Amino acid sequence: MKVLLIGSGGREHALAWKISQSPRLSELYIAPGNGGTQDLGQNVSIPSSQIEDLVKFACEQKIDLVVVGPELPLVQGIADQLANHGIACFGPNQFAAQLEGSKSFAKEIMLKTGVPTAAFKVFDHLDAALRYVQEQNFPLVIKADGLAAGKGVSIVHDFEQAKRVLIQLMEEKIFGPAGEKVVIEEALTGEEASFLAFCAGNEVKYLPSSQDHKRIGNNDTGPNTGGMGAYSPAPILPDDQMEAIGDLVIKPIITYLEKQGHPFTGILYAGLMFTPQGPKVLEYNVRFGDPECQPLMVRLDSDLLEIMLACTQGKLANVELKVKPETALSVVLAAKGYPQNYPKGMLIQGLENVPEDVIVFHAGTRQENGKYYTTGGRVLNVTALGQDLPEAKAKAYQAVKQIYFENMYFRTDIGDKGIKKMSA
Ligand code: AMP
Ligand code: GLY
Repeated sequence: MKVLLIGSGGREHALAWKISQSPRLSELYIAPGNGGTQDLGQNVSIPSSQIEDLVKFACEQKIDLVVVGPELPLVQGIADQLANHGIACFGPNQFAAQLEGSKSFAKEIMLKTGVPTAAFKVFDHLDAALRYVQEQNFPLVIKADGLAAGKGVSIVHDFEQAKRVLIQLMEEKIFGPAGEKVVIEEALTGEEASFLAFCAGNEVKYLPSSQDHKRIGNNDTGPNTGGMGAYSPAPILPDDQMEAIGDLVIKPIITYLEKQGHPFTGILYAGLMFTPQGPKVLEYNVRFGDPECQPLMVRLDSDLLEIMLACTQGKLANVELKVKPETALSVVLAAKGYPQNYPKGMLIQGLENVPEDVIVFHAGTRQENGKYYTTGGRVLNVTALGQDLPEAKAKAYQAVKQIYFENMYFRTDIGDKGIKKMSA
C-alpha cells in the first residue's frame, strides 16, 4: 500500500515511524517531511499548504491512502478534493474540519449537542464586542475565530487589555480574516488534558489520555508555544474514566456531524479543562496533537495503518486498538528564542549515543550528508517509555543529556505535574 503523509513536525515523524512498522506498507512518501522522516520514506518537497499540488502528486503516484498531519490542509478541503479522485484520506472533510477552523462553529455545535464548555458570545463588529466587554467581569478569554497558528487566544484581565486585543484582531487584522470574527468567553480554571479519538462516522475508539505543556518555561510560565513536552497517560484522566468522558465530549459531536451528512473520518481531539464543575471542552482539533502524538505512538501496540484504513472504510469496529500499559513521555528540545526569533542551521550532535529504547522524533531538522541540522524552533522530541511516569521522565532526560546543539533549550519539568498528582 502506498501512503502519502502530509506534514513536517515531530507528530509526522512519530506517525511515519509507526506507519512504517506496518506489514501492509509498500511505499511511504512524506510531504514535506523533515530530517527524521527521510530515514523512513521519501520526502517530497511540497509544502502542506499547497493542497492542489499534493492532490496532483497523490493522483500521479497512485497513492492508496493520504494521512494528513496538520489542520490547515483539512480546513482547506484536501479530503474533499482527494475524495473527488477516489483517494482515501485519513482526516475529515472541509465541513467537519470547521470544528478546528472556526471556533464559533465549534462552540455552536457544543451548545446544540450539550457538550460542556465555557459560556461564550460571538462578535463580528468591533463596536459591539467593545460594548460587550465593557459590561463583563474579568478575566475573559478572547479568541480569533479562524486559524491563527496557535496564537489566536488571549486571556485579558481588564477592559484596556481586552480593547487592545479586539482592535488588533478586528481592526488591525493581525491574523487577517481569521480575526474578523471573535469568540469571547468565560475564563475557566483547572488542569488541562488531551482526549484523542479515532472516528469513522458514528464509530469511535479512544486513545489513552495525554497532557501537553504549552508554555515555554518551567512551571507553565512565559509565552504559549506549540507544546514543549507531553506524556501519556495523564493521571488526571485515568483509563477507567475514558468511556464516560468520550460519551460527554466526542460522541455527541460525531453523531451530530453524521446526521448533517458529514461523517467524521480521522482523529477528533478534545482539549479539556478539568474545572471544579467537571470537565469542559476548551477547543476541538481535527488531527493528532503535537507533541501528544509522540508518546501516544510509542504506546500504541496495534498496526496504525490498519486502524487508519479501517476509519476511511467505516470499519473501525473491526479493528483492535491495543495500547501498552506503560507511560510514555516526550521532551521537546527547542532552539533558544523560540517561540519568537531563534537561530537555525545548528549541527545536532550526540544522537548516536541515545539508548536504543529511547526514540528521538525529529521536528525542525534537515539531513545533509548523513548529518542533521536544525531548521525550526522545535527541533527534537526525546521520547521514552517507562513503568510509570517518574521512570519515563528519568529515561527521557537521561537521553537528553547525550544530545547537543548550540542554543539548545528545553523545559526540565515535563511530567512533574502528573507526578505530583500521582502522590496527592
Ligand atoms: P486553544 O488555541 O483554543 O487551544 O487555546 C489555547 C490555550 O488557551 C488552551 O490550551 C488553554 O490553556 C487556554 N484557554 C482557551 N480557552 C480558555 C478558557 N475558556 N479559559 C481558560 N483558558 C483557556
Ligand atoms: N499540542 C496542542 C496541539 O497540537 O494543538
